[in-house]
Amino acid sequence: MNELVVIPGPNAASLSKSIALLSGAALSNVHRKIFPDGEIYVRLEHIYLNKPHRALIVSSMYPNQASSFLETMLLIDASKRHGASEVIALIPYIAFSRQDKVFLSGEPISIEVILKGLYLSGASHLITADIHNPKSLREFPGTFTNVMVSDILVRESLKYVDNPIILAPDIGALERASFAAKKHGLDFDYLVKTRDKASGEVTYEPREVNLSGRNIVIVDDVISTGGTIAESTKVCLSRGALSIVVVATHSLFVGGARDRIINAGVKKIITTNTVPVIKDEAVEVIDISERLVEAIRELTES
Ligand code: R5P
Repeated sequence: MNELVVIPGPNAASLSKSIALLSGAALSNVHRKIFPDGEIYVRLEHIYLNKPHRALIVSSMYPNQASSFLETMLLIDASKRHGASEVIALIPYIAFSRQDKVFLSGEPISIEVILKGLYLSGASHLITADIHNPKSLREFPGTFTNVMVSDILVRESLKYVDNPIILAPDIGALERASFAAKKHGLDFDYLVKTRDKASGEVTYEPREVNLSGRNIVIVDDVISTGGTIAESTKVCLSRGALSIVVVATHSLFVGGARDRIINAGVKKIITTNTVPVIKDEAVEVIDISERLVEAIRELTES
């Protein structure tokens, strides 16, 4: 079997190191620069260059989603040109995944463009974590794995709340919430969320679940502005919930998202290192490298 070489892509220096360490793979250096006109330049530097090897490109597509996507494709192309027999793209956070259908006439399906771009650049395998809509991955022409991590986050939440209800803020997040709830033998439910397609305004209709006197763990894939979580929290508290912990895989924390969530009444936010996050007294960051490495092993040993 050819040597596995980890190529650190955008926003993933630390994740790449831990993946290389845990998987026993070699770690490449990447020389990168920006030309005066703004173009991106990358060059791989590792001892297997132009010798048979398998390349594992580790990228996170936040922040700087568009340039991160482009840089990831450049790294895939460079690997294919310089000895990689196969390229695995490990992209725990794939940006543009929420535009997974045409909501309004005239729109693209952005996630399809991303998946096809990765494949056409030379990635034959794709590993991601908790993608917004797992069905989107069917548009990736190679093989793919969606690593679920909500069970790890919910397990961590049990340090802060006793016997919680696991709540998805909308039906789209229900599979993620129920997966974690079933693993830990907990109740689960969801809120009915409606988004106005033109204005983007969101309203919530609580389901007929009794939240009164219960601890709640809200499970979501992405925290962007924090609006979804803040509004869900308000709904839960208005229905008598005791305390709220939030678990989310990808915390982008745009603007004042963290404070917005905490000010809405959330006790703790538990998230992962799929994107760079700064931990503090309210934000706990769980390293999911081990679970990602399990997925790499399953793929490469099968
Ligand atoms: C939406 O369907 C997603 O799963 C997230 O709930 C949403 O994108 C979070 O965005 P924000 O934090 O801006 O409400």
